[in-house]
Amino acid sequence: MSVSIFGRSPADSAAVLTPYESEIGCYVDESELSFTNRLMSVLKAWVNHPTQVATVVPSSRRLIENIADRDCVKQAKSIIELGPGAGGTTIGLLTRMRPDANLLAIEKTAAFDEVLSRLRDPRLTVEIADATNLLNYMAERSLGRVDVVVSGIPFSSIPSTVARRIVQSVYESLQPGGTFIAYQLHNDVEKYARPLFGPSDCETVLWNLPPLKVFSWRKI
Ligand SMILES: C[S@@+](CC[C@H](N)C(=O)[O-])C[C@H]1O[C@@H](n2cnc3c(N)ncnc32)[C@H](O)[C@@H]1O
Repeated sequence: MSVSIFGRSPADSAAVLTPYESEIGCYVDESELSFTNRLMSVLKAWVNHPTQVATVVPSSRRLIENIADRDCVKQAKSIIELGPGAGGTTIGLLTRMRPDANLLAIEKTAAFDEVLSRLRDPRLTVEIADATNLLNYMAERSLGRVDVVVSGIPFSSIPSTVARRIVQSVYESLQPGGTFIAYQLHNDVEKYARPLFGPSDCETVLWNLPPLKVFSWRKI
């Protein structure tokens, strides 16, 4: 089966082919994914929802690689992404995920619907919705507990009651041994997640605007 995630067949384009292409017959067209295209999309969304979007610059390649190159992502059968935004991290996950894995991406800002709808991959489901309802969406889809949750939600700029509810839902959505990854400007997520998951591992990605911390926890 040959599936074009951007509405063109691989033969139409001199797209850069990736392992993603060879595994499931999809391909990634680097021009559609250009940093400039994602930047324009983020800027438009930020104008209307500055606190919610929380950044004017999309994730850098280094940040995307830091998240998606992890063994837990490559081995996962089911992944949830909270806050895919303009889709940079989403593409990173799709590129490394197993051909038989699934990704549910939940994005609150409707302005990202158009760019995310271009990611036509049979493994991906995009929901324009609020992550506070994560467990309901999983139940509606009869989705069992997942292996990995990746979140870009800015936990430092949302009310603490909402942040606690989302992190509690993340905890309940993961199966034992599952991994929660949160890329953040500030440390607030630590105080919400520590009572549930224990202390985090944390790496700083300097090559991103602004430099971000990538927190991770394994559910015991
Ligand atoms: C840092 S940005 C994501 C960056 C993006 N993943 C990238 O690769 O460039 C954070 C995203 O979280 C989304 N967001 C904020 N609160 C949310 C919520 N309660 N539920 C779902 N998404 C939310 C924002 O709309 C924004 O797109």
